[in-house]
Amino acid sequence: MNTASEEQSGDHSRSAQLYRRGCQVMPGGVSRNTVLRSPHPLYAQKGEGCYVTDVEGVRRIDFANNMASLIHGHAHPEVVAAVKQQLEKGTAFTLATEAEVLFAEHLCSRSAGFEKLRFVNSGTEAVMSCLKAARAYTGRTKIAKVEGAYHGLYDYAEVSQTASPANWGEVNSPSSVPVAQGTPQAVLDDVVIIPFNDPELAIEILDRHAAELACVLLDLLPHRVGLIPATAEFFQAIYDWTRSNGALLVCDEVITLRTNYGGAQEWFDVRPDLTAMGKMIGGGFPVGAIAGHSEIMEVMNPLAARIVFPLSGTFSANPVTMTAGRISMELFDMPAVKRLNLLAERARKQIVEAIKLADIPACVTGAGSMFRVHMKPVAPRNYREAFVTDQEAIRTKLLLDHLFDNGLMMINTCTGTLSTVMTEKEIDILTDVMLGGFRKIKAQFPC
Ligand SMILES: Cc1ncc(COP(=O)(O)O)c(C=O)c1O
Repeated sequence: MNTASEEQSGDHSRSAQLYRRGCQVMPGGVSRNTVLRSPHPLYAQKGEGCYVTDVEGVRRIDFANNMASLIHGHAHPEVVAAVKQQLEKGTAFTLATEAEVLFAEHLCSRSAGFEKLRFVNSGTEAVMSCLKAARAYTGRTKIAKVEGAYHGLYDYAEVSQTASPANWGEVNSPSSVPVAQGTPQAVLDDVVIIPFNDPELAIEILDRHAAELACVLLDLLPHRVGLIPATAEFFQAIYDWTRSNGALLVCDEVITLRTNYGGAQEWFDVRPDLTAMGKMIGGGFPVGAIAGHSEIMEVMNPLAARIVFPLSGTFSANPVTMTAGRISMELFDMPAVKRLNLLAERARKQIVEAIKLADIPACVTGAGSMFRVHMKPVAPRNYREAFVTDQEAIRTKLLLDHLFDNGLMMINTCTGTLSTVMTEKEIDILTDVMLGGFRKIKAQFPC
């Protein structure tokens, strides 16, 4: 991102101009690395349904949905109307609100595992609160997590999120790799890294720390691990291990809640002790939530005889988020979940056909209402297999640029998430354009 060279290259688009100004006041020019694009990010003007128009006036179909957080696309009329009403009544109080109670009641009704719930402001905060609750409940300090899984920015949760062949260590003893420089060694020592979907090896590693682990943290469809669903064997093995060893099972459903009415955990017969939520439950506004068994959630009870985990936040459960979130989640009822998953199934099938037609070494993974395209001939089974090589990165970028230039926005790992306002029309456009992208790749990299 060289702003001087852009100036010389004469890029006078509104986005380029805004970016030059952004660079004067923000490191990297923006507050979220996810929106960066070369040579500059594009700036949004408005979103309507599944379409986003940038400040240049270009309209694209949105398969990124603010990193999987917009389940009904942009500016859903029912959400807008309810939020407008709430805005006029005030946005945040040092009082509790009915909006909080209504939304907590709704979310608790979606799963037997959500007996009690508390709201926070982001997925990062939700995961952090689950880990702190697990420590408070068990009196233990260590946590275990899957190599490569993204759970937000909390020091402990982000360990090994960006591990690479240079530092990930032996497969049967994965290293705890820091993300941010300056991460305390004590944090790394307290995070145990396990491989995804390898129950035997994961249990062997967990056994080495059995007496010290407060919890195992799992995303059941981890995006960075390849967007592959957890197998029943893996989930059950981890669940059983936590039962036998006095640890909690924490599921990060910040993204995957969209997979079923009660989240990806519905794929299995048993429920985790705690669930972190975020993204779509905010109805387009910042949010997080922690749900779980009443007895464990009691650690957050400030009225208990002994307070073990105080939890507060100035904007937690603000009535605007609560209102937008409740309306959105009520609209995302069982038929809506089913319809969206079928639409995504159509997308995955058609992408597989396009890969065959173009005859390139690529594959598609995903479940529920999400998919991810890999420039690999065979679907990865874990983070090490999903790791994107330099050659694959070049092809992925070519595909993403082709999609973008032809009116389609994706998450930069070539992951797509659907919104309920999409129809077969948008899926067919996506897969047609993708076929063109695959053919372009084939032409540039013939074998
Ligand atoms: C699985 C998962 N957990 C947690 C987070 C963190 O959520 P937030 O960005 O709201 O802090 C994310 C964000 O992408 C996520 O994908």
